[in-house]
Amino acid sequence: MSIRKIHDLEFEVYISNEKIKDVISGMARKINIDLAGKDVIFLGILNGAFMFASDLFREITLDCQITFLKLASYAGTSSTGTVKRLIGINEDIYKKTVVILEDIVDTGVTLDNIIKQLKGYEPEEIKVATMLFKPDAYTMNLKLDYVGLEIPNDFVLGYGLDYEGLGRNLADLYKVVES
Ligand code: IMP
Ligand code: MG
Repeated sequence: MSIRKIHDLEFEVYISNEKIKDVISGMARKINIDLAGKDVIFLGILNGAFMFASDLFREITLDCQITFLKLASYAGTSSTGTVKRLIGINEDIYKKTVVILEDIVDTGVTLDNIIKQLKGYEPEEIKVATMLFKPDAYTMNLKLDYVGLEIPNDFVLGYGLDYEGLGRNLADLYKVVES
């Protein structure tokens, strides 16, 4: 088995790139059917979702747009921790069907924050597509319209996800080797 050392931790392959690609194809087929005829814009959330967004988008057959957003920390903090501001968003989403593309939904706090900010731009509707979902960590009630894979509450990396900046380039998804 191929073990990758990233910083201080050892990781092993958890989900192969082939499996990920199959899951994404299935998700794209659903989206192509569900959102046919709508004015759709995909919003990839950087950095983690770039690989997922790229693989999904090339299988989308709708006439649609894609753009990428980033969350930047505010200088101040709130009672709930650091508040993050969405950057790169503009009036392009007004009256459109927005599909948020996330790499992973863990507690859901990030997603909740993104959706609250997007609503201010008055899209027609907001859908969520996430490659990975950790149901055991989830604390929100937001509907996840398209979920690639549900995974346990373990730390994973690869396929766009990082561990302190490294590992995003790995094609497969890895998890920490349990000692
Ligand atoms: P949430 O706000 O708790 O849902 O966390 C969302 C963000 O945390 C994701 O967009 C990732 O950047 C990061 N994250 C959560 N779980 C993992 C993981 O297992 N590996 C790498 N990053 C993760
Ligand atoms: Mg992320």
